[in-house]
Amino acid sequence: MEIKIGKSRLLLKQGDITQEEVDAIVNAANSSLLGGGGVDGAIHRAGGSEILEQCKKLGGCAPGDAKITTGGKLKAKHVIHTVGPIWRGGGEDEPRILASAYRRSLEVASENHCSSVSFPSISTGAYGYPVTEAAQIALRTIIAFLRKHQELKEARMVLFSPEDFSTYARELRPMTVPDM
Ligand code: APR
Repeated sequence: MEIKIGKSRLLLKQGDITQEEVDAIVNAANSSLLGGGGVDGAIHRAGGSEILEQCKKLGGCAPGDAKITTGGKLKAKHVIHTVGPIWRGGGEDEPRILASAYRRSLEVASENHCSSVSFPSISTGAYGYPVTEAAQIALRTIIAFLRKHQELKEARMVLFSPEDFSTYARELRPMTVPDM
């Protein structure tokens, strides 16, 4: 599923983000940046030790921020590591931190002259963020950024499960207004 936003586009797909042939893939990391399970583990496994070596020099990453390393052995040139919020019921600033994780990742991609970037569904695995609410925040934040940053030609949401893909597709539908 895809929508155009000016000359940029947002694409939803189901798959494994480590296979993405884009300038940068985004990693849903933890604040240590020293690896973990889920998509973090998959990216480090597929990308190799060079990514971790560079992560070790970054001094961690605050929730809502994002930092860039090489893509190592991945097809993607770069990995942008971001830290989403741990869901604690919604009253601890989780929506703002999640939006910031997407926005800072997009800013770092643009600062590093990336024209294509792929995201996983940040915080909706081990961090427990409800997928529907996370999808609304992710899609709104990416669309708002692409409207103002047409240098970023393509942003993709790469959903690992069919359920997550259909949730994101359902939430994207009402956002596709003609003036994009
Ligand atoms: N490609 C795309 N998406 C994936 C992949 C993959 N190869 N593997 C997992 N995912 C999806 C999950 O299905 C989920 O929808 O990534 C989403 C995020 O889940 P997590 O990886 O658990 O990330 P998050 O919920 O942000 O929790 C981060 O988990 O792995 C640790 O070190 C990480 O402590 C951090 C925490």
